[in-house]
Amino acid sequence: MPAASAPRPVQISPSILASDFSKLGEECRRLTDAGADRLHWDVMDGQFVPNLPLGPDVIAACRNASDLPFEVHLMVNTPEVLLRNYVDAGCELVTVHAESTVHLHRCLTEITAAGARAAVTIVPSTPISAIEHVLDLVEMVLIMTVNPGFGGQSYLASQEPKVAELRRRIIVRGLDVDIEVDGGIAPGTIAAATGAGANVFVSGSALFRDPLGLEHAIDDLRTRATAAQAGADAA
Ligand code: DX5
Ligand code: ZN
Repeated sequence: MPAASAPRPVQISPSILASDFSKLGEECRRLTDAGADRLHWDVMDGQFVPNLPLGPDVIAACRNASDLPFEVHLMVNTPEVLLRNYVDAGCELVTVHAESTVHLHRCLTEITAAGARAAVTIVPSTPISAIEHVLDLVEMVLIMTVNPGFGGQSYLASQEPKVAELRRRIIVRGLDVDIEVDGGIAPGTIAAATGAGANVFVSGSALFRDPLGLEHAIDDLRTRATAAQAGADAA
């Protein structure tokens, strides 16, 4: 069995979008103490998606509140215009939408040139073929499991075949690439996403809604994903 097909480490990436914006630094510390692996920042421009939550200065102001890697999910048109601002703000991983730029290949190389790690993402209506030509430039592909723009939407199981197909292509090409899913990831959906081949999980509203707290929520998601990986492996 090629090494590329071995299960990849499960990573839980809480979405800051679901946190209390009146105390973001404290929320970053809480998520860090609760066992998150990285922190997911949703950046929107009111055009690519109809929402406008936060910019680079806000992220920079929170950088010292956590030692965890910051990943920024840029839901903006022409991300190449502003991506350096997010790298300068302390984001180690920058994710851009294939649909948001004509020059996707150049945009990803600019992320790397700016000193960050590059990732690419696609909305539910975009096929895997749109990113095939850049898979060797990224360390992660994010398959959106909702139409981006808002937290609290329902998980689209229709994206699981795309995750599975992407995982197959990554293995065939022997690439070292994580697959992240974002949107509606909750205790009831994470096993199916894992079974399809995802190993990095963004979770916002489900995680913050857990009545037993953030630590329980993160641990629960990790346990379910790890169990699903073991099941998929045994299958
Ligand atoms: C949606 C964002 C997500 C969002 C996820 O456009 O990209 O990161 O915060 O939120 P939940 O987990 O509530 O679907
Ligand atoms: Zn996101």
